[in-house]
Formats: sequence, C-alpha cells, structure tokens
Amino acid sequence: TEITYVEHNGTEHTVDVDEGMSLMEGATLNMVPGIEGMCGGICSCATCHCYIELSDQQGLPAISEGEEDMLCGVEDRRPESRLGCQVPVTSAMNGLRVAMPESQS
Ligand code: FES
Repeated sequence: TEITYVEHNGTEHTVDVDEGMSLMEGATLNMVPGIEGMCGGICSCATCHCYIELSDQQGLPAISEGEEDMLCGVEDRRPESRLGCQVPVTSAMNGLRVAMPESQS
C-alpha cells in the first residue's frame, strides 16, 4: 500500500507499507523523518503524532480512549490529528497522505 508521508517542511516520502503494519511502523521502517515511535506503538509517547485529512479518515478505526488521552497532551493538535501507531494500514489506504507536525520536524 503506497503511503506518502509529508514532513513539516514539505518534503514528501512515498513508501510501500505492508498491510497490517501501522502508519508509525511504515514510517520508522522506511526511515521517514518526523515520526519517531519512541514507545514502540503502545500508545504512550505521542511521537507518532500525524495529520490525516478528515475526508481520508473515513474507514479508519475511530480514535480510542487511549489515543484520545495521548492526543490531548500534544501541543499542536488539530481536528485531523491521529497517532500513527494506532492506525493499521489496509489496501484501501493506497495513496494516503500523512502529514507530520512542526514539533516533530
Ligand atoms: Fe508511541 Fe504511537 S508510537 S504513541
């Protein structure tokens, strides 16, 4: 599944991510800067904070209570904020654009 990660400075990285991996794993395995995934994906660090257009979030799993708690603590939260480790990649997401916040640049 082709995912385009967009750094805060506009640099784009289009990579192929296996289905079932998270958006965070797809970024870290492909050395995309801007998504750190410090906690390893257990929803406790928020270094995988990213933005996904709301129209593209249809069909993605809803924000869980744990994800919401972590998102509450990030400084540059927006309505389209998600934690990359909580979003599993599916083939339906082909072409998805994922943007990274300024604090992770
Ligand atoms: Fe730590 Fe997502 S990798 S919250």
